[in-house]
Amino acid sequence: MKTIYFAASSLDGFISDKNNSLEWLFQFGEPKGNYIENFVNTVGALAMGSTTYEWMCNSLPGFGDGKWPYRVPAFVFTNRELPVYSGADIRFVKGDVRPVHQMMAAEAKDKHIWIVGGGELAGKFYDAHLLDEFIIQFVSVTLGGGAPLFPRKLKKPLKLESVQRLDQEFAELRYSV
Ligand SMILES: NC(=O)c1ccc[n+]([C@@H]2O[C@H](COP(=O)([O-])OP(=O)(O)OC[C@H]3O[C@@H](n4cnc5c(N)ncnc54)[C@H](OP(=O)(O)O)[C@@H]3O)[C@@H](O)[C@H]2O)c1
Repeated sequence: MKTIYFAASSLDGFISDKNNSLEWLFQFGEPKGNYIENFVNTVGALAMGSTTYEWMCNSLPGFGDGKWPYRVPAFVFTNRELPVYSGADIRFVKGDVRPVHQMMAAEAKDKHIWIVGGGELAGKFYDAHLLDEFIIQFVSVTLGGGAPLFPRKLKKPLKLESVQRLDQEFAELRYSV
């Protein structure tokens, strides 16, 4: 079981643009070959910050059948009271990521833990030595600003494990910590 930060980034290192939009990403559709679904099937629990959660809640009804896309528990970090997306297994948490990681590991069992984002939250898992891997899909665009991929100076360089071309617009880079 690994804890993985899996996210799509612009070439200049942003995971959303200045308006919290992902249009720059979705204009290309999903990488072929059930790329996202294949990863999601390896995951037993996931974590995200409230901006990402609220973006999903506000955006999902416009997509597909409007249902929450994940069957595994989603741990949402927030200091506020937020509504639970109908039918979703949402656990609101706050503060130190370490006890939350323990709860996630208990839920995930032998499956992976997915840190969805944002970048600062992924950084908190990294700071606590809980992040094992980065899987980043670099998209062939630049944004000039927005939510950063990983607003941290690494303690030491990551180890590049693989580079894979996904269609024309995505390059997947896998790194171990
Ligand atoms: N391209 C991709 O693959 C990808 C992946 C993920 C997200 N995104 C997008 O990127 C953007 C990320 O937004 P973001 O950088 O603002 O990050 P975020 O992590 O989604 O949300 C940050 C907020 O979460 C809450 N939070 C974070 N850590 C916390 C903690 N330890 N305890 C309590 N609350 C905590 C805080 O808000 P409150 O306390 O006020 O609730 C904080 O302001 C979103 O637009 C999202 O849609 C893109």
